Amino acid sequence: MADYEIGDINLAEAGRNRINWNEGDMPVLLGIRERFTKERPLKGMRLSVCLHITAKTAALVRTLAAGGAEVMLVASNPLSTQDDVAASLVAHDEIPVYGIRGESVDTFRRHVAIALDAKPHLLCDDGADLTSALLQRGLNPGLMPLGATEETTAGVKRFNAMEAQGVLPFPVIAVNESRTKHMFDNRYGTGQSAIDGIIRATNLLLAGRTIVVAGYGWCGRGVASRAAGLGAKVIVTEVNPVKALEAAMDGFRVMPMSQAVREADIIIAVTGNHTVVGAEQFADLKDGAVLANAGHFNVEIDVAALEALAVDKTQPRTHVTSYHMADGRQFHLLGEGRLVNLVAGEGHPPAVMDMSFANQALAAEVLARNAGSMAKIVHRLPDSADTLIATLKLKAMGIRLDVLTGAQDNYLHSWQEGT
Ligand SMILES: NC(=O)c1ccc[n+]([C@@H]2O[C@H](COP(=O)([O-])OP(=O)(O)OC[C@H]3O[C@@H](n4cnc5c(N)ncnc54)[C@H](O)[C@@H]3O)[C@@H](O)[C@H]2O)c1
Repeated sequence: MADYEIGDINLAEAGRNRINWNEGDMPVLLGIRERFTKERPLKGMRLSVCLHITAKTAALVRTLAAGGAEVMLVASNPLSTQDDVAASLVAHDEIPVYGIRGESVDTFRRHVAIALDAKPHLLCDDGADLTSALLQRGLNPGLMPLGATEETTAGVKRFNAMEAQGVLPFPVIAVNESRTKHMFDNRYGTGQSAIDGIIRATNLLLAGRTIVVAGYGWCGRGVASRAAGLGAKVIVTEVNPVKALEAAMDGFRVMPMSQAVREADIIIAVTGNHTVVGAEQFADLKDGAVLANAGHFNVEIDVAALEALAVDKTQPRTHVTSYHMADGRQFHLLGEGRLVNLVAGEGHPPAVMDMSFANQALAAEVLARNAGSMAKIVHRLPDSADTLIATLKLKAMGIRLDVLTGAQDNYLHSWQEGT
């Protein structure tokens, strides 16, 4: 059995059931796995994967292993690990896994270090944690990975910053930039799973409540539309004029957070920024407000400020911490301010991760085949990958589409015809 540091190996059977259930809704990734099993494009590659340890990630890791890679998996967040999935990967797939639900930040960092000590050829990053740890420990050219893939918006921002500062050590494929990733995972995945996490954590009725969504990017659009679908009165806060306009024309009230907090029953922060709700906003926050973060890092809600302001703190439910203010108000923080959909729920549904992780698998293949010849910049997968993944997904969903006639195709590429 592989080396590992996980919660409980005895959970392996439950983990296998969960992985099987999720793989049942991941036909595109499973199709790629079938091809990888035959072609072995990752043969000889050591691959360190740092992702949320969920059943969907297990499906990806098993696909990368089927492609010939020697894969190891570490958690990308101390609170998102599904211990049963970790156990199944170790016991049934002989994958070294390092991640325990509820691990300390020090343990999380030690696991990241283990992933780097494995001398990987490729990194699969989520929030650029592996790569930034690598840069911070000092680069050893002899042990430099050939490249990395990046899963999420927050990580792409960090990789773009590395490129701009001239410190990006290898080519990176920003999986998040694929349309078959952010248009579905960020929008429909976060839209559904963030709401699901909040409901599982609180059992609150959303109908008739005022929900403030901070950030109207891909995730925010999804969260706002799903909250509205459940009957909530949605307010959006934004800093980008175009996004704010879009939210307004989608029918939402748009206002600054300082104003929105006075009405908010629930705030869902999904900006990728820090201190979106902090001491200034807590001063006017409505009594009983629920605070949830769905952005990648736990910095959107200023938890340190809440701790400092509170005169008392209670835990009424598993994922709810209630902060009691001196003036009698209470605020309820979900999942310690970490990704609510992964802490209080199971993360995104497999049907969207099917496409995200199909992109991950293709990105790993591109790096394995071409890394030596790729520029040390942030790349995205070619449009052909989006077309392939969307075509396979449509096929799996039993959806047919029209095909251009020759005349239509000519018309779309000509300029002479008109009225
Ligand atoms: N919960 C999940 O499972 C999950 C899934 C995908 C992405 N993410 C994370 O969610 C975050 C958002 O991702 P995205 O793809 O929607 O990004 P995005 O760039 O499409 O959208 C972010 C939006 O937030 C706005 N914004 C920035 N600062 C703000 C502020 N102070 N107040 C209000 N609005 C502000 C930006 O203008 C932008 O429109 C990132 O951290 C990303 O990594 C989480």
